Amino acid sequence: MLLFGAAGGRGVGSGWAGLVRRAWLRGAPPGGVAWPFKNLPRVPARGRRDWLADGAPGGHPAILPGGSGGAMTRPPLPLCGSILITGSNRGIGLGLVRGLLAASPPPDLVLATCRYPEKAQELQQLRKQYDNIRVLQLDVVSEKSIKAVVKEVEDLVGEKGLNCLVNNAGINVCATLDEVTSETMLTVYETNTVAQLMVTKAFLPLLRKAAKNGTGMGCHRASIINVSSESGSIQLVDAKKLYLQVYPYRIAKTALNMVTKCLAADLKSDGILCISLHPGWIQTDMGGEMAPLKIQDTIPEILSMLARLREEHNGSFLDWQGETVPW
Ligand SMILES: NC(=O)c1ccc[n+]([C@@H]2O[C@H](COP(=O)([O-])OP(=O)(O)OC[C@H]3O[C@@H](n4cnc5c(N)ncnc54)[C@H](OP(=O)(O)O)[C@@H]3O)[C@@H](O)[C@H]2O)c1
Repeated sequence: MLLFGAAGGRGVGSGWAGLVRRAWLRGAPPGGVAWPFKNLPRVPARGRRDWLADGAPGGHPAILPGGSGGAMTRPPLPLCGSILITGSNRGIGLGLVRGLLAASPPPDLVLATCRYPEKAQELQQLRKQYDNIRVLQLDVVSEKSIKAVVKEVEDLVGEKGLNCLVNNAGINVCATLDEVTSETMLTVYETNTVAQLMVTKAFLPLLRKAAKNGTGMGCHRASIINVSSESGSIQLVDAKKLYLQVYPYRIAKTALNMVTKCLAADLKSDGILCISLHPGWIQTDMGGEMAPLKIQDTIPEILSMLARLREEHNGSFLDWQGETVPW
């Protein structure tokens, strides 16, 4: 059993790459393994040309140097006033922060949270470059840490409240039916499902405050984006057999999808939107080097998609290009 995300396992042999290799080693040819992205990559030409042609109002370069993630194009639409991202020191979370800072116009406030801000070199570098980013400590499984960050955010956003909460932090444990244990199930459930609910609960007063100041539904007003995975789709179980090697992860994501549905139903009357997002199979520490997508390809698409969310999307399960993923 291999734990990665929270506890290492980076580089060759980790992530989905490790899974695929293990499947091949067991004698399953590539065609025999249900490859998660049979038809990918779909070229996100729709938006990318626009972003490139978008000029550079606001003094931001049209292409943002992406650090380890490579150059990234700017998404075209305003998203929201304030946005908080969990697990933003690397991977998709860091990509979202970079993409938001490159947006035109960018959010007033990008709240980049991570477990160890002092070690988050890329975030600290961005902090020196941009006025609208704050780097805050948040361990999503620590009640104390959640409480402290809510207070900090409250002081930062004031009466405007928090417009968008992105529950991105997550871990993966590779475990087949033979390997899975109650301990790994509970560890992953705690980080990938319970934490999202507890973090959301803690930020609800600030989301409600933002909702009171806006109209319609969407990230511009108040929203919760749960970063899920298509591996959590019950309907895709037969089609995506590769995910049978990550029992704890996929089951926790299925449960996270239920969190999304419950929040969407519960908070609709407050004007707070909630969706589950499948970000695509992306090259990160978790996604591994064999993932077909790169951060710089998907993040502008994700941000563009988030900016287009409206009431009809509340309670939906969407992929990085805004297409519906079956539950
Ligand atoms: N990459 C993919 O292909 C893919 C596909 C579908 C869904 N997703 C989902 O996308 C999200 C981000 O994945 P990723 O690929 O960016 O993974 P990653 O590169 O492994 O990054 C995971 C992030 O989560 C953080 N994290 C883990 N436990 C935490 C905790 N207790 N408190 C706060 N932060 C914590 C990590 O922080 P540390 O550095 O402190 O560990 C890191 O910033 C996850 O929810 C994942 O399930 C990813």
